[in-house]
Amino acid sequence: MTVEEVTPGEWVHRTPARDLNWNSVYADQLPRIYNYQARQALFRVVSWTMEPIGQMLKRRRPYDPDLMAASATRLQALAKMAPELFEHDTRGFGIPTRALDLIWEDKAGFDRKMRTLLAATDTLAATGLAQDRARALEAAIALGQACSDCHSTYRAQHKVP
Ligand code: HEC
Repeated sequence: MTVEEVTPGEWVHRTPARDLNWNSVYADQLPRIYNYQARQALFRVVSWTMEPIGQMLKRRRPYDPDLMAASATRLQALAKMAPELFEHDTRGFGIPTRALDLIWEDKAGFDRKMRTLLAATDTLAATGLAQDRARALEAAIALGQACSDCHSTYRAQHKVP
């Protein structure tokens, strides 16, 4: 398969990493390719880091202040990376993404959701580090809400392969 037969993003996605010849990917496309892959990887790590907090909220595991503080600190750092991963417009690039075009059509609205995420992780980190159980759990609920508020508007329903 050559670059000409499919869109550049699709070509990179379909080619096993070991067979990729980066020289045939145009330099100006690389930021977008790296970006969508890093974007999805980042959110997977975010989700994995949220997991123990979710279990504490649902009382499926006992409240653990140290685990809460560690997870909250990680989430705060991870969330700070998220805005950068939407800097490059990946509309029409032919990649398997759930990022809706609306993100770049309504960047101001999207950025507001992003700021809500950052504020929510700051609050969680502060309350987690202060070992304030009640407020940390409250902050965790608010954080979960910030995730779904953005997803309901700016993320496609379908799963990526
Ligand atoms: C400001 C918007 C926004 C916020 C806030 C947000 N997300 Fe997302 N999330 C997205 C978008 C857009 C995608 C699709 C990315 C893609 O496919 O390129 C996504 C994808 C994901 C994915 C799928 C990753 C994959 O490809 O397998 C998971 C899981 C996820 N987000 C979890 C979370 C969690 C957990 C939070 C809150 C802690 C969160 N997200 C907050 C916009 C957001």
